[in-house]
Amino acid sequence: MDFFELMQKRTSSRKFTGEALTEEEINQILKAGALAPVGSNRYGNVHLTVVTDKALLKKLAEASQIRRSNTKEMAAIINNVSNADEILEQANSYDPFYDAAAVIFVSHRKQDLEPNIQWCDVTSVTMAMHLATVEMGLGSCYMWFALDSMRRIPELDHTDLLQLPEDFEPLLGLAVGHIEEPLKERDIDPMRIGRTFL
Ligand SMILES: Cc1cc2nc3c(=O)[nH]c(=O)nc-3n(C[C@H](O)[C@H](O)[C@H](O)COP(=O)(O)O)c2cc1C
Repeated sequence: MDFFELMQKRTSSRKFTGEALTEEEINQILKAGALAPVGSNRYGNVHLTVVTDKALLKKLAEASQIRRSNTKEMAAIINNVSNADEILEQANSYDPFYDAAAVIFVSHRKQDLEPNIQWCDVTSVTMAMHLATVEMGLGSCYMWFALDSMRRIPELDHTDLLQLPEDFEPLLGLAVGHIEEPLKERDIDPMRIGRTFL
């Protein structure tokens, strides 16, 4: 697929068919993650965890559900998301992972050597996997809220269940699954991000 066609088809999918992903599909997405650039070539600082176990995802969703019920905070966060009203109405049954076939958690080694580079690394890897899903005709969505909620509500932080290597923390995730309709190219205003030329 042409690069700009792919970028214009790219969107955050939040509805999935329920069909499982094949091992080949999952491996292809993980491969895209491994092809992404990371700071100082430190690939050993990033770890990917593929979760397809629904019971585990349910447990990992607990903190988000509690936080979701704080509608004031939520309204401010999701103000710009197109289905914000729907999201607020569904606070109780909210699944931050949108019942995706798999969630790929992107974790990083805790480190002070290069401040905040962990966020850049996990975003780079997640973006590559997100784009791979578009190319493969699948849907996917970044997962920040669920992990941030776990950090904010430490008693509901179940990330130990991810069996991460020592000294790693989950920072982002990608919910992935099959979608009903193929993604269509969107007409996006290239000026939506401000520019300065110096
Ligand atoms: C760093 C980052 C974190 C995000 N976290 C979430 C999230 O936790 N839940 C969610 O539904 N969408 C999340 N998104 C998706 C954004 O809301 C989405 O990309 C944005 O609204 C633009 O919509 P589009 O991707 O369909 O073009 C995240 C996106 C990024 C880049």
